[in-house]
Amino acid sequence: MSKMGNNFFSVSFDLILLDKSIPYDLYVNSSASQERERFVRIYPKNDDLTLEDLKLFKKKYFQLYVHESQRDSYLKSLIQVKGAPDSTKTEVIKSSAILYLDKLFDVDKEFTTELLSETINECKVAVESMVDVIKDYDVSKLQGLIASLSFHDFYTYDHSINVSMYCISLYRAAKPSATNEEIVMAGLGGLLHDIGKIKISTDIINKPEKLSDEEFNIIKTHPTFGFELLNDNPCECQGVDFNIIKRVVHEHHENFNGTGYPKKLNGNDIHLFARVTAIADFFDAITTKRTYHEVLTTEDAIAVMAKTVGKKLDPQLFEIFTKSVKQLVLAGKISKELPEDFDPCQPQNVLPFRDPKGFKVEGFGDKEKTQTFGKIKKKVG
Ligand SMILES: [Fe+2]
Ligand SMILES: [Fe+2]
Repeated sequence: MSKMGNNFFSVSFDLILLDKSIPYDLYVNSSASQERERFVRIYPKNDDLTLEDLKLFKKKYFQLYVHESQRDSYLKSLIQVKGAPDSTKTEVIKSSAILYLDKLFDVDKEFTTELLSETINECKVAVESMVDVIKDYDVSKLQGLIASLSFHDFYTYDHSINVSMYCISLYRAAKPSATNEEIVMAGLGGLLHDIGKIKISTDIINKPEKLSDEEFNIIKTHPTFGFELLNDNPCECQGVDFNIIKRVVHEHHENFNGTGYPKKLNGNDIHLFARVTAIADFFDAITTKRTYHEVLTTEDAIAVMAKTVGKKLDPQLFEIFTKSVKQLVLAGKISKELPEDFDPCQPQNVLPFRDPKGFKVEGFGDKEKTQTFGKIKKKVG
């Protein structure tokens, strides 16, 4: 497989598998010069590493490295590492997922079926590791985890990873008997849902101001473009049904009442994973803190989303989603609505709220006003 040349990535001492055969080689940089790097293998793959060994390494070496070609094996091993917090593990998985997505979104690279296939296989490993780490998380716990992760510059990467995590959690809650493979599919669909944006100028994708009609029409091509991209580049990935991934990519902007795009599908004609993704997409857009806009509290987010239930969102799934926000008794009474064409995939300077009669309301982010909407009550017992 063509991987990233002779590249190594640094690994934390706390995330090395102990007393088990390690599925990757460990390296150190033995070069004294800052400009040049010379990697030397200090521990071979498939040997058991003890705590004593690790303590010795810690004393002797500043940093350990793993070769890029073994990143997959490193990610897979994370779940077995004891004692490290989930946020540390998730951070590693997230940075790997960002690296993979970046290969797809890199405009300078020639896009090929091979690249797509390789990247999707890597994304799948990242999602599998993610499923392992967050399998017992409900939405509110997940929200805390997501908030603890570092934020990157490119909106689509952070957003896609968060959406993937919410999809995993929501799908598990919706279908408790789901197999691991199905859950991974739900997460992979979420991670790739905006793949059709790779050919849209980043100036438009990352524009936090209101888009012109023309720009918005360009954005609206991404579900169909993503679908065609996957259709024209048949990939292989064990355990992944590409027809389902294609449908998530194609249908995640369809509305439950048939007013979405591009095909105006409605109800259960929209694939279940696409309906799951639509909820995850919306929720992340209005609750995750970005640099440019204030975010809603969980309960206000749920209240805003509730206004679109039956129109935009699947009512049954939404109910499961709200139940998954366990420790909150939802009292969100926010009276603002987002316009029908609100696009959760776009960064926004200010969320484009309207009052229920369709007039724009100002001052979102104005503390005095937002504080009056709903109170969070902790559930007793
Ligand atoms: Fe999208
Ligand atoms: Fe999105």
